[in-house]
Amino acid sequence: MTFDDEKERLRRSWVANASAWTEVVREGRIESRRVATDAAIIDVVTSLRPGKVLDLGCGEGWLARALSSAGMEVWGVDASVPLVEAARGLGGGTFVAASYEQLAAGAVELPEAFDVAVANFAILEEDVSAMFTAALRLVRPDGALVIQTVHPAFAGDGPYVSGWRTETFAAFPGEWPESMPWYFRTLSDWVAVLGTHGWRLADVREPVDPRNGRALSILFICRRG
Ligand SMILES: C[S@@+](CC[C@H](N)C(=O)[O-])C[C@H]1O[C@@H](n2cnc3c(N)ncnc32)[C@H](O)[C@@H]1O
Repeated sequence: MTFDDEKERLRRSWVANASAWTEVVREGRIESRRVATDAAIIDVVTSLRPGKVLDLGCGEGWLARALSSAGMEVWGVDASVPLVEAARGLGGGTFVAASYEQLAAGAVELPEAFDVAVANFAILEEDVSAMFTAALRLVRPDGALVIQTVHPAFAGDGPYVSGWRTETFAAFPGEWPESMPWYFRTLSDWVAVLGTHGWRLADVREPVDPRNGRALSILFICRRG
């Protein structure tokens, strides 16, 4: 399978699974989100005191709604048209259907000088250059890029090596027509990639499951390099 096949399957999965995803997020069916990771991303973004936030890979828009209800102006961008439509349905931000590649190429009209760009579980590709370039274009020079992703040390039982994995969504309720390829990255590979494309890693958070002390995710706070 080629790199482009995986990218295309990834893109398609977020169209095919849009309604199942919208339902599990809105009904609070993802336990790790409920117990720690939603609060973690809101806390980190809020602590940066931004006026204007860009939510990259916003999905059905829950984070945009949470941040805008705390007084921030939020723009959400996602490549999945049905997810952007779902986000628009509940409001709480301005939602645009576009890929990171389109943003990086300047092919989409968006305001510039965002204080913070955030990507919550929305970096799933091997090649992150478009996402980082888009954030660099759109975030002001003293702004920040905040990324939350699965914690590399607690991400399933596979070998600890970067590579493509498959999420079947079997553990989630509902009908999931397509599985999703996603690129697993070891911690050292994350650190290496975060130092590219004009960004540098400035801070890290590791929210834990309060019931068993296991890390549920990792947050990277990046500044211009
Ligand atoms: C796991 S969902 C997370 C959605 C949302 N951030 C949340 O926290 O619920 C990943 C999202 O990233 C989006 N995404 C992945 N790659 C993308 C790309 N290259 N351009 C735009 N959106 C992308 C998908 O369409 C999907 O909505």
